[in-house]
Parts: sequence; structure tokens; C-alpha cells
Amino acid sequence: MVTITFFQPDGSSVLAAGNEGETVMEVARAHGVEGIEGECGGAMACGTCHVYVDEAFRDAFPAIGHIEDAVLDSTETLRTEQSRLSCQLPVTAQADGARMTVPGATA
Ligand code: FES
Repeated sequence: MVTITFFQPDGSSVLAAGNEGETVMEVARAHGVEGIEGECGGAMACGTCHVYVDEAFRDAFPAIGHIEDAVLDSTETLRTEQSRLSCQLPVTAQADGARMTVPGATA
């Protein structure tokens, strides 16, 4: 199992366990993480899976792609240097212990 901690803007958190082969979005949804909707099911069409990945875990995930980059530009929530679509973040051993925050502010 791989554990990921999701922080809410108010500082509360959910410690979630997932399996390799899942995406971070799927893990968040399975654990009822508020603010991670994943409406398009991972098709990079909705942006409702936006998270801010802790800097220490940036390299635990593949680099951002062109489509993901464009979708992040159009999300309602504020984009930062740490922004990723959690549906594009595979759960791997390198991601174990990752910390990410659910956006709270709108852009
Ligand atoms: Fe829709 Fe990630 S689930 S963009």
C-alpha cells in the first residue's frame, strides 16, 4: 500500500491508502476527500481533481503534459507552481508518503 495525505485549506487532513496502478484522484475519491470530484473520470476534461503537490514530492510523479497544463490554466481554482491534476498522478512506490493540498481559493 502507498499512503498519501490530503490536506484541506483549513488544515484538516485525510490519510489515504492506495495501490500501485491507481491514480491519486481515485485514491482521494475512494476516501471521500472533499474537493476532489474527478467528474470526467480522468479524461483531463474537467479540472475538478486539482491538487497542490508538496514540493518534496514533485519528482515522485511524471512531468506535466501539454493537455494537463492547458486544463490547469482553465480550472476555477487558483493555479500555482505546485498544481497538478490528480488524475494524472500515478500511485507508485515513489509516491509513498506524499502530501498534497486541495485548493480552496478560486482564481
Ligand atoms: Fe477530470 Fe482529472 S478527473 S481532469
